[in-house]
Amino acid sequence: MGDAPLTVVGLGADGWAGLPEPSRAALHDAEVLLGGPRQLDLLPDDVTGERRAWPSPLVPALPGLLEEYDGRRVAVLASGDPMFFGIGATLARIAGPERLRVLTHPSSAALACARLGWGSEHVTVLSVVGRPLDALRRALAPGARLLVLSAGAGSPSQIAALLDDAGWGPSRMTVLERLGAADERVVTGTAAGWRGESDALNVVAVEAVPERGTRLLGETPGLPDDAYVHDGQLTKRDVRAVTLAHLAPRPGELLWDVGAGSGSIGIEWMRADRTCRAVAVESRPERAERIAANAAALGVPGLKVVVGPAPDALADLERPDVVFVGGGLTRAGVLDACLDALGPGGRIVANAVTVQSEAALAAAHAAHGGELVRVQVSRAEPVGGFHGWRPAMPVTIWTYEKENLP
Ligand SMILES: C[S@@+](CC[C@H](N)C(=O)[O-])C[C@H]1O[C@@H](n2cnc3c(N)ncnc32)[C@H](O)[C@@H]1O
Repeated sequence: MGDAPLTVVGLGADGWAGLPEPSRAALHDAEVLLGGPRQLDLLPDDVTGERRAWPSPLVPALPGLLEEYDGRRVAVLASGDPMFFGIGATLARIAGPERLRVLTHPSSAALACARLGWGSEHVTVLSVVGRPLDALRRALAPGARLLVLSAGAGSPSQIAALLDDAGWGPSRMTVLERLGAADERVVTGTAAGWRGESDALNVVAVEAVPERGTRLLGETPGLPDDAYVHDGQLTKRDVRAVTLAHLAPRPGELLWDVGAGSGSIGIEWMRADRTCRAVAVESRPERAERIAANAAALGVPGLKVVVGPAPDALADLERPDVVFVGGGLTRAGVLDACLDALGPGGRIVANAVTVQSEAALAAAHAAHGGELVRVQVSRAEPVGGFHGWRPAMPVTIWTYEKENLP
């Protein structure tokens, strides 16, 4: 695909007027200018290179475009900071970072923080451009400051409706439109009272304030059982917390949650870090629907749900870093398929409640090693005017890490 340098130039809403001299010089020098039609229109006539508007969809077309213009001086136009939710990172992935010369510009988030007086290191930035809005729910905590990159003019009212629906209607919302342009506009209100139209180019700032009585969730695994909609097929809170400790999610890892039930293990795995991914495998369609609803309500709409029985349903999935088996242990081939799917250093955690599934774990422990733990939780419940301990069924947990050979 060539190795000629590619210059990526960040451009604000004020266009040419806001560009520093090195960026202007790079654009004057370019033989070919690639960018969105709106950005190309911001260039003055004395920028004489051939102008080529991005095709849609852009990403699949990029390798061909770079090939076509190989050997010519190419400048790529980007909005704001090209490396912030922008074309820069995509180009680095496709063409290689060493080919890029990035002339940056303040991002919309930097401009928004400047207008709001917010320290940008304390802000959670999310994008709803091509991504589900429900991810906002994960970031809601009293006083949290969020900046949401909008998908368009409709995003502010959709964000307001979601906040209101989630019990965060009193949150303060500021919509910052066309930041940096002469006609920049900043509109403030509350999520519950949000009215009015927005410009298509906007970011939404949220200072989260819950309504009285809104359930506040903690950051660590072991969410309350009633945070989930379930039919009883739920790994209960205390055992779930212990199970997640054994699973030990690390950033970027992919989990298979096999026999996912209500989805709580995959959901809490994904809540551990924004880069953690999970696939929930569940044979019953009505449970699969519930898993997707629980994932959306708890702010991890990216959880992938696969309907079908293991081991067959596992065959075409992306290989996992870690597997949890919460159901199907006594079904022929399930545990073997999970172990086979793991690469060196991969981890498996399996929970058993019945005598038969516990026997399967004892056999796995004898064959492979690892750690066997049994937990039994008792809960205080009213007995007459007093309280007594009501024991839940014990749960056996097998944890095993595949050898990581050099
Ligand atoms: C694909 S992201 C690109 C972000 C860009 N690279 C940056 O540095 O801000 C596009 C989103 O950024 C936000 N955005 C970019 N420029 C903006 C501006 N001047 N004013 C308000 N929002 C802007 C909007 O939410 C828009 O939908």
